[in-house]
Amino acid sequence: MPGPAIQAEEHERVTTRPAAVVVLAAGEGTRMKSSTPKVLHELAGRSLVGHAVAAVQELEPDHLTVVIGHGRDQVAAHLGQTPGVATVVQEQQLGTGHAVQVALGALPDLDGVVVVTYGDVPLLTGATLHELVDAHTADANAVTVLTADVADPTGYGRILRDDEGAVRGIVEHKDASAEVRAITEINSGIYAFDAAVLRSALGQLTTDNSQGELYLTDVLGIARSEGRRVGAFVTDDPWQTEGVNDRVQLATMTRELNRRVTERWMRAGVTMVDPATTWIDATVTLEQDVVLRPGVQLHGSTHVGAGAEVGPDSTLRDVTVGADASVVRSHLVGAEVAASASVGPFSYLRPGAVIDERAKAGAFVEIKASSVGEGAKVPHLSYVGDATIGAGVNIGAGTIVANYDGVAKHHTTVGRHTFVGSDSVLVAPVELADGSYVAAGSTVTAGTEPGELAVARARQRNVDGWVARRRAGTATAEAAHAAQQRAGDDHVEGESV
Ligand code: UD1
Ligand code: CA
Repeated sequence: MPGPAIQAEEHERVTTRPAAVVVLAAGEGTRMKSSTPKVLHELAGRSLVGHAVAAVQELEPDHLTVVIGHGRDQVAAHLGQTPGVATVVQEQQLGTGHAVQVALGALPDLDGVVVVTYGDVPLLTGATLHELVDAHTADANAVTVLTADVADPTGYGRILRDDEGAVRGIVEHKDASAEVRAITEINSGIYAFDAAVLRSALGQLTTDNSQGELYLTDVLGIARSEGRRVGAFVTDDPWQTEGVNDRVQLATMTRELNRRVTERWMRAGVTMVDPATTWIDATVTLEQDVVLRPGVQLHGSTHVGAGAEVGPDSTLRDVTVGADASVVRSHLVGAEVAASASVGPFSYLRPGAVIDERAKAGAFVEIKASSVGEGAKVPHLSYVGDATIGAGVNIGAGTIVANYDGVAKHHTTVGRHTFVGSDSVLVAPVELADGSYVAAGSTVTAGTEPGELAVARARQRNVDGWVARRRAGTATAEAAHAAQQRAGDDHVEGESV
C-alpha cells in the first residue's frame, strides 16, 4: 500500500456552504475549431469542465448545476460520471443572465448563497472561491464579483466604482465608452449572489444592449439601485480568471497549470531536475523525496512512493510506483511497480503488469497482465503476457511467452527460483514447477516437475567437410583450411615433443 500522499497544507475553513453553484458551459466555443465541445478539451488530466467542477466541489454546495447547450449530449455523458452534478439544458444561448435563469428554474427555491462560475476557466481554485464566499458573507453583500486588474482588459466587462470605491455596476466592452474601456479592473464572470436578490434581479433583465442578450452583469446595477450591498473581491492572480477560447490559450493555460502543479510538489519535497519538461496531471499524487528526471509525464491516478526515481523520458498513466523503485526511459500504463523494483531502460508495461518488490523488468521488455515475483528478473528483450512469474525466477534474454494461439489467450506459470534459458519460447498454457530449469533456445510446450531440466530443441549435428565441398573458393573455406593447417602443425609439433 502506498503511504499517505503529501498534500498542500489544508486550512480549517468555516466558509458558508452555498445553496447552489451554477457552472455556465452552454457556449459554442467556435474558436476551438473542434468536433469536441470546448469544455471537454483536456489539460492536466481533466476536462475544462472537470476542472471547474473540481474547484466548486470544494465549496460543498447543496446543489451543483452545470448549464449545457452546445454539444449537450457529449457534455452530459461526460458529467454523468461525476456524482452530485446535475445538468440543465439552455436550448438557446440568449446570454449569461438567461443561462442562470434556466439553472434556477430547474432548482427548488433557494435560500442563501448562489455561486456562478464558468466551465472554461481551468486555473480557478477552490481556495479562491472560498475567499470570494468569505468576503461575500463577511461584508454582508447581496452580490460579490471576483475581479482582477489586468494589463489588457480588451473584451472583458469593466468594473465601475463610485468615488468611495464601491462597485456601481459592470459595463461590457462592446457597450463601453472610450473612458470606460480605459478601466483595467475586469469582471471575471465569477460571482457570489444572495439567492433572493439574484432571482428578483434576473426577472428584471432586458436585452437592451449591443449584443441583444440577457446579461448576468446587469444584476449588479439592479441590486445596487435597490439599495443592496454590491462588492468586489479582487484577486492578485489574474490567471485564475482566464478562460480558454482557442487552442493557443489551451496550451498557455496547460503550461501555467503545470508550472503550478510542479511547484506545489517541489515545495512538498519532490526533486525535479527540469520542471519545464516534467508534466504532472492534477490527479497525480507523489510522496516525499521522489526524484523526477527531465522528460517525465505522470498521468491519471499515478502515484509515486517515497524515494522512487522516475525518468528521464518516461510516461506513466494510472501507475503505482513503490518506495525507492526506479523507472528509466519507459512507458507504463495501468501497471504496478513495487518497492525497490526496477524498470527499464526501454520497458513497456501494460495494464495488469505487476513488478513485485526488488524485481526487475529490464531493457526492451514488454509485460502485460502478468506478475513478476519478488526479486525475479526479466532483464533483456522479452515479451511476457498473461503469466505468473514466481519469486527469484530468472527469465533469460530474448525469452517470449507465446500467450496467444490465434484464437484465445492462455496462462503461463513459472515457479519460484526457476531458471529459463535465453531465447526460449514458453507456449501457453504451460506450467513450469518451482526450482526447475529450461535449456537455452527451448520451445517449451509441456510443463516441468520440480528439479527437472527441460530441453526442447533439436540436438546439434556437425557435418564434417561441408564448407570445403559446398563453399569451395570462399573466404570461409580459406579460413577453415588455414585453421585446419594450423591445427595440423600444432598436432605435429605436439607429437614431436
Ligand atoms: C462574460 C461577461 C463579462 C466578463 C467575461 C469574463 C456577461 C454579459 N459578460 O463575457 O463581463 O468579463 O464573461 O470572461 O456576462 N454562456 C452560457 N449561455 C449563454 C451565454 C454564455 O452558458 O447564453 C457561458 C459560456 O459558455 C461561457 C460563459 O457563459 O462559459 C461566458 O460567456 P461568454 O459569451 O464568453 O461571455 P463574455 O462575452 O466573454
Ligand atoms: Ca468568454
